[in-house]
Amino acid sequence: MYPQRRLRRLRKRHIQPLFKETVLTKDDLVMPLFFDETIDEKKAIESMPEQYRYPLSSAGSVAKRIQSAGIRSVILFGIPEDKDSEGTSGWTENGVIQKAVREIKKEVPEMVVITDTCACEYTDHGHCGIIGDTPCGPDLLNDESLEVMAKIAVSQAKAGADIIAPSCMLDGMVAKIRQALDSEGFSDIPIMSYSTKFSSSLYGPFRDAADSGMSFGDRSTYQMAPENPGEAFLESKTDLYEGADILMVKPAGFYLDIISSVKTLGLPLAAYQVSGEYSMIKAAAANGWLDERKVALESLTAIKRAGADLIITYFAEDAARWLDEKQ
Ligand code: PBG
Ligand code: ZN
Repeated sequence: MYPQRRLRRLRKRHIQPLFKETVLTKDDLVMPLFFDETIDEKKAIESMPEQYRYPLSSAGSVAKRIQSAGIRSVILFGIPEDKDSEGTSGWTENGVIQKAVREIKKEVPEMVVITDTCACEYTDHGHCGIIGDTPCGPDLLNDESLEVMAKIAVSQAKAGADIIAPSCMLDGMVAKIRQALDSEGFSDIPIMSYSTKFSSSLYGPFRDAADSGMSFGDRSTYQMAPENPGEAFLESKTDLYEGADILMVKPAGFYLDIISSVKTLGLPLAAYQVSGEYSMIKAAAANGWLDERKVALESLTAIKRAGADLIITYFAEDAARWLDEKQ
């Protein structure tokens, strides 16, 4: 049959830009940064090409560089000098993240500084809170760990963080932190909850980068099983009711179905393109097997198309430049 419907009519090169349904912009992107209080020079992260651990002394200049690329927001991770079983270094006034926040807000006040709120970077066992004995063996204790989360969140807010982003996947995490922030006078600080975070194998490079690997076990008793879309939706819905301001799905690229389902809850939604997603693209590009720039932008566009309002990605700084060049 002769085609009546010719969709290619609108695909002529000069017409198709008018009908673009998804447009990725620099304002969609958040750049993750690692600050390490034990170093004086920036240190390459081997498993994440072109990503670095930065010394605290460079916090201001790195933030300026990110800003000059046109990125408005960063999310911070810390590598502390000391770790203990309770993650004490996560909530001290002069902790690595608290210092990094103060420095960035001093040098680039307009930068939206998000802090990852979790204990795993600060505990010697590497889990996201307090470990104790349970009938099923040693595991993360929920309510005890919430106390730690509340202290970390408040100390980050005191340091000047614009958005608190708890990532421990404990029950009651958002409610507990909301209460703690409100009682300390931070009722205006939003919570971006890592509301649906999967127990994924894609975090490997990050755990090298942040030195947050576990000394035993895994995170599958608190993070989501990849097989469970219903539970994944319920996890985010619970955080909506607990008072989250922004929800999150993490990882992003393997979980586009979850992004579009969580989006229906109606809250602003972030998606985290994690370290493994980044490193896979980088590795293939380094081998000449994929075009880094095209694949990276396609991956980010797919995440936006699925429903993410905000994308946390290690490509943020480069993608900003690529998007400028595309104009
Ligand atoms: C800490 C945290 C993790 C990531 C962000 N926050 C690691 C984890 O759960 O082990 C992963 C980020 C990435 O892989 O890029 N809870
Ligand atoms: Zn954690």
